[in-house]
Amino acid sequence: MKGNKPVVAVVGATGAVGKEMLLILESRDFPVAQVRAFASERSVGEKVPFQGGEIVVEALTEDSFEGIDLALFSAGKDTSEKFTPCAVKAGCVVIDNSNAWRMDTSVPLVVPEVNPDDLKWHRGVIANPNCSTIQMVAVLKPLHDAATIQRIVISTYQAVSESGQKGISELESQILHLMNGQDADTHVYPHQIAFNCLPHIDSFLDNDYTKEEMRMVKETRKILGDDSLRITATACRVPVFYGQSESVNIETAKKLTPKEARAILCQTPGVEVFDNPHENIYPMPFAAVGEDSIFVGRIREDESIERGLNLWIVADNIRKGAALNAVQIAEKVLEMDLLRVS
Ligand code: A2P
Repeated sequence: MKGNKPVVAVVGATGAVGKEMLLILESRDFPVAQVRAFASERSVGEKVPFQGGEIVVEALTEDSFEGIDLALFSAGKDTSEKFTPCAVKAGCVVIDNSNAWRMDTSVPLVVPEVNPDDLKWHRGVIANPNCSTIQMVAVLKPLHDAATIQRIVISTYQAVSESGQKGISELESQILHLMNGQDADTHVYPHQIAFNCLPHIDSFLDNDYTKEEMRMVKETRKILGDDSLRITATACRVPVFYGQSESVNIETAKKLTPKEARAILCQTPGVEVFDNPHENIYPMPFAAVGEDSIFVGRIREDESIERGLNLWIVADNIRKGAALNAVQIAEKVLEMDLLRVS
């Protein structure tokens, strides 16, 4: 700490989420004594903009964390697994955007609007949930409090930016090639993503679900603190650059009408209700890009069961789904005076 302000590291500062983290730290006036930017050897010497100046990117090594109080990691699971222990050993609190630690029982998994109190038991590492989970639990938490959700059925429509810069480049280049009558090369996904949908995010498990689908199941139970929740998910990659959409069906113990759900969600911090279908008003990824809020609409009764609702939930996967949620966790850590490793 320098003058009561933390020295902050962004690990993965040249990536899609890391760049957004820097922008959000700046735009929210996050108090910093200094910000340092780390990436792989490939990017050493590159410059990233911050507060009107530039930060020179450093290579990440095991000794990088001396003098750093808080590190925001978004450099993939392997980098997190390798370097988080060094950071914690150096007394640094890590907020990790990868899936390296999310299901570790000693690591809180936090959406600040939903379970901020879980931050109190961190031991140096705090996990940022998967983007699909963040936007869903922020909407479902107040409905769960009001009517006790018993079952959730999820279908996702996930943007290529979730795969980082390489996902964005793959869709861009495939569109360009195909529109020019050329073949589209496939490197990142198992099939062409341009003009296509892939019901396949991350690898398949023995139960024929993908890791992404099971992450949504397990992370949701952990964040809502309810292992009895019955949840099933289908995760689909769609040819959208930014913005994550989800169709979510819930079954509740107590009857909740769409009107009551709308009224609750209108009062929920971080959530905006966009729900006037007869005027063509509903959330869309295109409109959510660059926004901090999570948008919910198409709230309607599931007429096939006694106590069920359908919802359509959309957010900017790079902002609330990743960088913004990480910075909001950091803000809570400061506010709750938890910037220490216990
Ligand atoms: P680099 O740009 O040097 O490869 P994205 O998710 O957009 O692909 O970005 C991933 C981020 O993680 C980039 O900033 C990338 O840096 C960084 N990164 C990848 N591997 C490592 C590593 N071994 N050590 C540090 N940073 C890494």
